[in-house]
Amino acid sequence: MASARSSAGRTGPAAEPSARRSTRRPPRPPASATTAVSTSSFSPGGTTSSDGSTPWAFPAARGLFPPHAAGGGTPCANGVAEGRGARQDGRMTETLTVGVLGTGIMGAAMARNLLKAGHTVRVWNRSADKAAPLAGDGAVVAPSAAEAVRDADVVLTMLYDGDAVREVMREAFPAVKPGALWVQSTTVSLEDVDRLAADAAEHGLAFYDAPVLGTRQPAEAGQLTVLAAGPAERQDDLTPVFDAVGSRTVWLDQPGAATRLKLVANSWVLALTHAGAETLSLAEALGVDPDKFLELIQGGPLDNAYLRTKVGLVRGDQLSPASFAVTTAEKDARLIAEAGRRHGVRLDLAEAGAERFRRAAEQGHGDKDMAASYYASFDK
Ligand SMILES: NC(=O)c1ccc[n+]([C@@H]2O[C@H](COP(=O)([O-])OP(=O)(O)OC[C@H]3O[C@@H](n4cnc5c(N)ncnc54)[C@H](OP(=O)(O)O)[C@@H]3O)[C@@H](O)[C@H]2O)c1
Repeated sequence: MASARSSAGRTGPAAEPSARRSTRRPPRPPASATTAVSTSSFSPGGTTSSDGSTPWAFPAARGLFPPHAAGGGTPCANGVAEGRGARQDGRMTETLTVGVLGTGIMGAAMARNLLKAGHTVRVWNRSADKAAPLAGDGAVVAPSAAEAVRDADVVLTMLYDGDAVREVMREAFPAVKPGALWVQSTTVSLEDVDRLAADAAEHGLAFYDAPVLGTRQPAEAGQLTVLAAGPAERQDDLTPVFDAVGSRTVWLDQPGAATRLKLVANSWVLALTHAGAETLSLAEALGVDPDKFLELIQGGPLDNAYLRTKVGLVRGDQLSPASFAVTTAEKDARLIAEAGRRHGVRLDLAEAGAERFRRAAEQGHGDKDMAASYYASFDK
């Protein structure tokens, strides 16, 4: 069998965790639907709310949305514009203005699905060339983070890590309108969540810790699983956003809880990725046809669709474009290992996995799919 050592590609969806409260939403409405629908009507079949009474409850409840410039709405007697993002009673409508900061693999796909769902989307990315193509999908491409969030009902951050989020939001905060919702979907540390939530409170935003499960393909298909935690009284307002980017929203108690579950889920995903990579490299080293191994486990409790997908990417030389890049996976592995250390557990696999990703990146595979952990089994 030919060695797979030349390879990259696409992954299937990441494993979905179970959680205390989770629902599946009904089929997505037509992408062009812009009819104003009360967010309260989403509750039974859509996302579920946590029970509130959280210290994170944002003081400004619904009804804060001022006349909506991007929606071109007409001021009503109560001073709230008709049009996108606001209703006569001040509650948010189904279509909103969303400022998306970060249009990498995940952010670009999420922005496109927000556009398909009829939202007004303003995007910004540090490297302008990654944001520019979204103009063709109908997004307003902003020259700065501040311009992207101006007039936004919802700010969505999908950046590399916590430092990047803080850096970008420092510039954006002065332009965010009071009472806007901040959906923070970047995978960050638990300490970052605390810091970002404090920053949000300082600047008058309602903060939602909202990491996602699923990679490029589910992101492009609007099939992510959103893990969300934030002020209970505004959760319904986010249903149109979460329904646009995902097929399932799992609400958790308060900021931090969503990221904790995300890190646990990623611990599993990364361990599986390395297990597949090492098993493939060992098979090759021992002269065992990998297909013999896959046949051996087929249909039994050791079989695993994710393993087959990742091994397939390496063997099929489909590691580019990445679904989840090696460098991003290394960042996540280090977040997991650090979370374990801080909470008194040794996570040897996470530590070793981070090191495999580091070596693979050093060998020039940093932008490839994380299945390129395979290369870390070899000296070059
Ligand atoms: N890919 C997945 O399967 C997946 C799944 C779930 C969650 N996530 C998480 O989602 C986040 C984004 O992942 P991704 O795969 O979309 O990564 P990506 O394609 O590498 O995108 C990262 C984004 O962050 C920006 N960025 C990085 N450092 C920055 C800085 N200092 N200032 C401003 N912008 C900065 C990048 O801008 P440039 O274009 O200028 O570099 C890019 O827009 C990560 O936290 C990742 O862990 C990823």
